[in-house]
Amino acid sequence: MKSDIDKVKGSNNIPNHLAIIMDGNGRWALKHNYSRTNGHKKGIETLRNVITECIEIGVKILTVYAFSTENWKRPKEEVEFLMTLLLYYLRNEIEELNKNKIKLNFIGRINELPKNIVEEINRAQKLTEENNRLILNIAVNYGGRAEIIDAVNRIISLKLNSIDENEFKDYLYFKNQPYPDLIIRTGGEMRISNFLLWEMAYSELYFTNVLWPDFSKEDLYKAIYEYSFRERRYGGL
Ligand code: IPE
Ligand code: IPE
Ligand code: MG
Repeated sequence: MKSDIDKVKGSNNIPNHLAIIMDGNGRWALKHNYSRTNGHKKGIETLRNVITECIEIGVKILTVYAFSTENWKRPKEEVEFLMTLLLYYLRNEIEELNKNKIKLNFIGRINELPKNIVEEINRAQKLTEENNRLILNIAVNYGGRAEIIDAVNRIISLKLNSIDENEFKDYLYFKNQPYPDLIIRTGGEMRISNFLLWEMAYSELYFTNVLWPDFSKEDLYKAIYEYSFRERRYGGL
């Protein structure tokens, strides 16, 4: 019998843009009697594997939710750990990402992040800007509402009187990228948690109970295989 991996590789209906709400690190840690920080560390390994598989499958854009505008509400120690982890991720993985021709793009209120992280982000984006194998959008200090409000405020500052949907898109963080075809949420919660509110209008949604650190290659292929059968109608017939 063919595995989901073989079936996906033979399919001509692969998401061009995949977005993931990487949730469940804390619960994974709790389950294994580790500190929450260990769950976040393990989550980085999952991300590394998912990036490799996306390239293998032929996904062109991968957007991952790493830190929301609401995640600042967490204990100071956890927030600091997540910021340090992001810094380490950028410093340690950038060479490999660049070698694999991955273009890094950060979305969110990046300017509000600690200065050393902003510098590292700018460096990573500059280094990888010509790469074209996969665009990796990392959402940090990202909120769907914040993104829309930021766009509206820019439009107001330009004194525009009216704007249509296509023009509005240019003011969002994604600019000329296509909207996500498939959004996966791990960790079992059936909610959006302020992710890609504008962009997901016609995205296909896939929820799984698998906690992000446990999310395997097989789990990814299972989601993409299911997507390949979705019938997208966009309100038409
Ligand atoms: C997702 O895992 C990572 C971030 C939000 C930074 P969580 O930390 O939310 O893990 P759970 O949901 O508590 O298990
Ligand atoms: C969403 O997860 C944000 C990220 C995965 C970065 P949360 O854990 O913050 O979402 P809620 O609080 O369960 O809605
Ligand atoms: Mg969570």
